Amino acid sequence: MAWIGLDFGTSNTAAAIVEQGAPRVITLDSGARTQPTAVFLDGNARKTVFGQDALDALVDGREGRFMRALKSVLGTPLMHEVRVLQHERVALIDLVARFLEQVRERAETATGQDFDKVVSGRPVRFHHDPDRHARATADLTAAYHKAGFKEVRFLPEPEAAAIASGGVSSGLGLVVDIGGGTSDFSVFRGTAGAVDVLASHGIRLGGTDFDRLLSLAHVMPLFGMGTEIKAVFGSQTSTAPNAIFHELATWEAIPFLYTGEVRRRVVDMAKMAVDQRAFGRLVEVLEHELGHDVALAVESGKIGANSGADAINLGLVERGLSVPLTSGDLTHDLSGSVDLIREGAAEAIAAAGADAADIRKVVMVGGSSLLTAVDTAIRDLLPAAEIERGDVFTAVVDGLAIAAARAA
Ligand SMILES: Nc1ncnc2c1ncn2[C@@H]1O[C@H](COP(=O)(O)OP(=O)(O)OP(=O)(O)O)[C@@H](O)[C@H]1O
Ligand SMILES: [Mg+2]
Repeated sequence: MAWIGLDFGTSNTAAAIVEQGAPRVITLDSGARTQPTAVFLDGNARKTVFGQDALDALVDGREGRFMRALKSVLGTPLMHEVRVLQHERVALIDLVARFLEQVRERAETATGQDFDKVVSGRPVRFHHDPDRHARATADLTAAYHKAGFKEVRFLPEPEAAAIASGGVSSGLGLVVDIGGGTSDFSVFRGTAGAVDVLASHGIRLGGTDFDRLLSLAHVMPLFGMGTEIKAVFGSQTSTAPNAIFHELATWEAIPFLYTGEVRRRVVDMAKMAVDQRAFGRLVEVLEHELGHDVALAVESGKIGANSGADAINLGLVERGLSVPLTSGDLTHDLSGSVDLIREGAAEAIAAAGADAADIRKVVMVGGSSLLTAVDTAIRDLLPAAEIERGDVFTAVVDGLAIAAARAA
């Protein structure tokens, strides 16, 4: 019976152990070091599929229900509501548990070991509200237990990345972990293998929020957001309600739109819509459950715009449909978020009783740290610091594996 390090991320999950003194990332999906944190309830095969298989099922348009970003729902009442999804009655917490269970099983198959103890990452704060944060931690603990882990310990994700880093030879280091759901910071000192964390800080803001902002600004208007709906009687019009567009732009909220009631409401609105074309697209997206396909298109538009491409391709909704998205749009639309990230880093430094000038090295991790706007903000805040960027997707799990080996 053995310990494993497991980074259950909003977007991607990874598992690792220490072998011959060094962290070894365990392959969960063939050919990849991380697994998309995605679940698909296959309606025809009546089974649950995970990770890349779940994404493939979505993209292939198979009959079933896709979910991603379930980590964002931890700590909320939605986690425990039992609902009918495809062929069964389940709560989302059960799906988190199933996901973690398949991670355990795949890791056991890959290594020939049995894992019944886990050192799991967690954001510094799942939620700003301490009670919600505590509930989220309790939810995730319960899911691990359901998944077959007898002992569960948590380590804040940026602290894990600090442990796995090369450390700092003088002054202080700062981990900046900008993931899919949260942005987390740890100030540390000490050299590799003997890193000491002085303070951590976290905010609930990450790449899935960037996707939402970009979707609301560029895509949802094409689906009718902000357009007018005629009154049933008389000549008055009113602006289409925003709630549906917000949910459609939010990864973890998309599945809640796929109900008969929402579809009927949208069909009724579409009949009275001034912009028939836009509402036609919205009806189509709900009818064919294309919400996650749109979210994936926005995400890949974001990643593309960050490296020189200039459009979100929505051809899956309507042949030839695309909307411009440039690096200038990213800078503009994400400027408020980037300010919050810069302030979050500054807050961690202050909590450590330090000044910006004390930070000699910044360890950048998390997929969203690859955004130029984030990189620029951190360099502005800490112009004298050296920037270290290893594998941004596995630095956290490396540290969790080291902590797991020490726990053994
Ligand atoms: N090249 C890139 N440029 C910008 N963003 C990227 C890039 N690659 C991935 N991302 C974004 O990074 C995010 C995922 O990062 P990561 O896997 O570190 O998050 P996570 O660990 O699952 O989330 P969290 O730690 O917040 O729970 C996604 O929002 C994704 O769109
Ligand atoms: Mg992460």
